[in-house]
Amino acid sequence: MPAVLVTGGAGFIGSNLVRYLRRERPGWTVVNLDKLTYAGNLESLADLRNDGGHLFVRGDIANADLVEHLCEQHEVEAILNLAAESHVDRSILGPGIFVETNVSGTQVLLEAARRAGVKRFVQVSTDEVYGSLGAEGRFSEASSLRPSSPYSASKTAADLLALAYHHTFGLDVIVTRASNNYGPYQFPEKLIPLMIANALDGKKLPVYGDGMQVRDWIHVEDHCAALLAALERGKAGEVYNVGSDNEWPNLQIVQQLLRILRKPESMIEHVKDRPGHDRRYAIEARKARSELGWAPRIPFADGLQRTVDWYVANRTWWDRVRSGEYRVYYEKNYGARG
Ligand code: NAD
Ligand code: DAU
Repeated sequence: MPAVLVTGGAGFIGSNLVRYLRRERPGWTVVNLDKLTYAGNLESLADLRNDGGHLFVRGDIANADLVEHLCEQHEVEAILNLAAESHVDRSILGPGIFVETNVSGTQVLLEAARRAGVKRFVQVSTDEVYGSLGAEGRFSEASSLRPSSPYSASKTAADLLALAYHHTFGLDVIVTRASNNYGPYQFPEKLIPLMIANALDGKKLPVYGDGMQVRDWIHVEDHCAALLAALERGKAGEVYNVGSDNEWPNLQIVQQLLRILRKPESMIEHVKDRPGHDRRYAIEARKARSELGWAPRIPFADGLQRTVDWYVANRTWWDRVRSGEYRVYYEKNYGARG
């Protein structure tokens, strides 16, 4: 039974990916290594508690001995690296941990993979490495790397390290760069779940600046399918963009959410903009479609409705994660924008 190591598997995309892999490749063992930072949550994996094909290990990707031990113990054939600090606003408040985890952590993981003879390493990256677009054009894999935030700069460094490990040491590496994900189990610091949670709680919906910044949204399950396709059919040393041709200005996303929830638009509050805010992202994913035989399947209207339904039905999940540390962060980030 082949084993794969998923890092960051207690986070938003990671927990969806672990579930997706168990469903789509039931013969595989999924070893899930996660440090359980504020963003990691074992409750996102509660339905897999009695699943013998999922092994959760609490630990840091920057712990080389642990990673090597896990790879040897379980004869890990591939690593999918999702572990990261992932929130742009937090990277503005405190960039250090982003370098520690996203850059140094990834390098340690690459080294451990090399030593343990892991056959494939998928570095899960982001369209933010390309920086910001004007009104026209889309990012292709050949676009220049021009990250603007400490978060995206750290992800760019990690991509380049991963590709350097391929070039220099012959490690079989693939880099995927996805656009904005949405769906169940996303931490409510990110746009869509934050707006749903605030609307349900009768709080203001804080839109940064004019709200006309554009993001290109993909359902997390379509992203998971692309990661599996890249793992199975990708070519070593290649980069694959992952997106679903679905651009929206933030303000229109918030308006759609309010419509679904039957709440008034007067709940929207324009607040001070994010420093260095990227204006527009748009992803060209032709290469993933043609070379990986992958295509997104979930239409946005359905995906958004299902996501709202999930947050409405799973209030305990997001209520619990919005306690403690989250409150301190919320005050720091939004207190300064009022
Ligand atoms: P998330 O913040 O929800 O989850 C990150 C997970 O990584 C958490 O479970 C956390 O505990 C874990 N983690 C953090 N530091 C760790 C460490 N040192 N060792 C082990 N585990 C650690 O993030 P997400 O939104 O699920 O994103 C997952 C990955 O996908 C990230 O690499 C992110 O850059 C990338 N990505 C995200 C999106 C998006 O829209 N969310 C889009 C493209 C790419
Ligand atoms: O593009 C992929 C990236 O998408 C991932 O690499 C990141 O991990 C992920 O967090 C996401 O980054 P963004 O900065 O685009 O996502 P966020 O949900 O933080 O914000 C989406 C847009 O909404 C952005 O233009 C900022 C705006 N926004 C966000 C929040 C949290 C608001 O207007 N108000 C808010 O309160």
